[in-house]
Amino acid sequence: MEKFIINGPTILHGNVTIAGAKNVALKAIVTSLLTDDEIVLHNMPHIRDVLLMLEVVKSLGANVTIDGNTIRIANGHTKNTIVPLEIGARLRTSSMVLGPMLSRYGSAMIPNPGGCRIGARPIDRHIEGLKLMGATIDYDSKDGYFHAHARHLHGAQISFLKNTHTGTETLILAAVLADGTTVLKNAAEEVEIDDLIALLNAMGAKITRSGNKEITIVGVPKLHGTEYTIMSDRNEEATFAIAALTTKGDITVHHSQRHNMKTFLEAFEKAGGVYNMLDDTTTEYFYDKQIQPVDIVTGIYPGFMTDWQAPWALLMTQAAGISTIHETVFENRFSYVEELRKMGANIAYFDPNVEHPEIFYNFNWKDRIHGTHQGISITGPTKLHNAILSMNDLRAGATVVLAAMVATGQSSVYGVEQIDRGYEHIDTRLQALGASIERIEEDEVV
Ligand code: EPU
Repeated sequence: MEKFIINGPTILHGNVTIAGAKNVALKAIVTSLLTDDEIVLHNMPHIRDVLLMLEVVKSLGANVTIDGNTIRIANGHTKNTIVPLEIGARLRTSSMVLGPMLSRYGSAMIPNPGGCRIGARPIDRHIEGLKLMGATIDYDSKDGYFHAHARHLHGAQISFLKNTHTGTETLILAAVLADGTTVLKNAAEEVEIDDLIALLNAMGAKITRSGNKEITIVGVPKLHGTEYTIMSDRNEEATFAIAALTTKGDITVHHSQRHNMKTFLEAFEKAGGVYNMLDDTTTEYFYDKQIQPVDIVTGIYPGFMTDWQAPWALLMTQAAGISTIHETVFENRFSYVEELRKMGANIAYFDPNVEHPEIFYNFNWKDRIHGTHQGISITGPTKLHNAILSMNDLRAGATVVLAAMVATGQSSVYGVEQIDRGYEHIDTRLQALGASIERIEEDEVV
């Protein structure tokens, strides 16, 4: 186990290249199960979740070669349709192999998916959709597996009751080789899904965004190999933009996705941050004047992403006044609050007044954990001080690392494997921007 030793405060300055999008890379790996040909994926991030997902497809029989940021996957003709518990249970997207396994081999066994601990995170919407396509799926609590069978998957009209990002992708991955046409209504609109669609279409699939929140997939008998460069990561970019503003610095990001981050940029400017569009894919983010409070309500695309709210909360500890964050997508995504409080942040929970929470929130209201809150209010500006910190999800991880850079003194950050799930070499990239951050074994003394 490793930890970070961080000395603050630091002003971050310089250039950083945004890595490939985690939330595309993981699903791109699954597409390899849809063909016997090789697929070649470029711009794949060096992150733990990608390595875990590669373990999943390897466990099913795929051959994987990694060469820098290029990954080649040749599935051959997979015989095994069971994802081992110790591999699949570590990663939520392991459940996405269900579609390809069912459409090609007629059966699959996947463990109850794990992943970041941000609430109940069930996959009921995925399962219901697959059932409408002809699958039978039962969860056996004795072995912790979903047991799925399908004589053949067929097209279906599926209307999601609530938005689901990976649920939409799971059904796309199931429908590409199914018999007939599938229409997904109330489908998610995140741009990462469009990148996955572009990859699948390059493999011979027939997928279109056919209307408002509607996706039509015309099943084809076979897909072929392809070579594809995945998009860069909006969540990384938002993190670095916030890092620039919070540390009163100046960071230029390359491979920028700013054209897909309109809501973020609006909030960034309202907070007093400035960005310069240096060219199509290069954006400079910098501090100019006292940070101002901005109220945020997270939302599905094109709203303010739930993935951005944790580092945003840190930014708001430096704003002059009171700001609020209302989280509407996940029911337990404020795990970083206690950590920021340890550093002196003035953050209080509140329960936003919502008339029909069971309709309003994106999570299943009945699944919420007793005692959790959907709102926080942050009073700033606060001078943060060093602390012993930990994290239990990816975005909380990025937040505490940045907080330690803003704080005065030396902080220790435990649980860095969480941040390694989704940020490529975060420590060396922050060092290049001027941060004093060192990765050491947990029991090493400095
Ligand atoms: N939900 C259900 N049942 C389902 C599906 C979802 O109750 O069958 C609930 C979830 O628990 C959540 C809400 O509905 O409360 C939205 O879930 P969604 O399915 O949209 O999210 P996800 O697919 O689990 C992906 C990203 C997340 C990102 C969200 C929102 C991946 C691998 N993960 O999660 O990314 O926050 O969409 O855009 O694509 C991250 O990168 O740190 C991360 C958590």
